[in-house]
Amino acid sequence: MSNEVKKNYTAQELNAMSNDELARLGTELDDVTVAYRKERFPVPNDPAEKRAARNVGIWLVVGIIAAIAFLGVYIFWPWEFRNLGEEGHMWHTFYTPMLGLTSGISILGLGMAVILYVKNIIPEEISVQRRHDGPSSEVDRRTLTALLNDSWTTSTLGRRKALQGLLGGAGILAGLVIVAPLGGMIKNPWKRGEMNIMGDGTLWTSGWTLQEQGVKLYLARDTGAIAENHTGEAGSHWSTVGVSRLVRVRPEDLDAGGMETVYPLPESLVNDGDLFDPQASVYTEQMHSIHGPRNPVMLIRLRTEDAQKAIERQGQEDFHYGDYYAYSKICTHIGCPTSLFEAQTNRILCPCHQSQFDALQYGKPVFGPAARALPQLPIEVDEEGYLIAAGNFVESVGAAFWERRS
Ligand code: FES
Repeated sequence: MSNEVKKNYTAQELNAMSNDELARLGTELDDVTVAYRKERFPVPNDPAEKRAARNVGIWLVVGIIAAIAFLGVYIFWPWEFRNLGEEGHMWHTFYTPMLGLTSGISILGLGMAVILYVKNIIPEEISVQRRHDGPSSEVDRRTLTALLNDSWTTSTLGRRKALQGLLGGAGILAGLVIVAPLGGMIKNPWKRGEMNIMGDGTLWTSGWTLQEQGVKLYLARDTGAIAENHTGEAGSHWSTVGVSRLVRVRPEDLDAGGMETVYPLPESLVNDGDLFDPQASVYTEQMHSIHGPRNPVMLIRLRTEDAQKAIERQGQEDFHYGDYYAYSKICTHIGCPTSLFEAQTNRILCPCHQSQFDALQYGKPVFGPAARALPQLPIEVDEEGYLIAAGNFVESVGAAFWERRS
């Protein structure tokens, strides 16, 4: 069919054509046959048209309000962690659901508006096109532009200023809903804050760095304890007073071939054993230790016959305590928790991309994409028989490939 259509037009001939003529020519040149086309509202000022436009507008307004609500929640909602029973706990727990709800409604509003516009306002049309190869000619490009112009005209959006504004506003706000959360990921790795149980904010410090400041740090395991319900004269309430989330670990707590995840526990935050005080309130600080992104350490007790074959890294010969080795749990590939220890082979496995590290060779990578050994934490046992850190890591933990010696 297209073979019969004249393809060579001079610029003057093209300039002389109206937009309608160019659009029609475009469909013919593209081997497109418009099989069916019907205006939705052929009669001007049709009340049904106003109704359709109003429905689209309502969904756009819903999308805009939800997008503004999302930005408000993202910026102003109290997101900081609160313990159960602590003031503001309920607001904190609603932070993530509110972000999901508002962003979902804003995208839904925009999507519904687009669907309703296409279904109820844009003319119905069925076109059939035959595919052809090769680049487009000048005439094809010009006629395509005309077709796009024609689509804009027939969409009637050009004369619907209110919908144009709403659509533009909803589009921009929906874009912000997607882009704004990325702002939380922008971080200056060299910006130092106050040194605490999570490190000082730089990527090469952790809670274990406190050891360099003379703080005695126990290796402590997570009990998973939560706030307890207390009933008194004033009624019942939840409280973390006297609850210990982290407890100190002794060597005999681990079986040979066993592994335990431990976190740094400063002496001042201990609330177990002889030092248990039912009035002590250390729960929040202990949770900060657990939430410290570079704090988790795998305490591994090798079987004695295996430990005799262990190869120590130069300069780290005394980092272990007998059969006990402590390696950072943060994978040196891209930072997943290397949560699996296979006692038969003494390999530590990262489930993210299957890196494997040899616990008998200072956490050296032996399989997978990780290229650096897991940093080893020097450990010893104090006079009371608890495992403590004998120093800080001597290299950056995790996927930090700068500021690292190996
Ligand atoms: S993060 Fe561990 S293998 Fe990729």
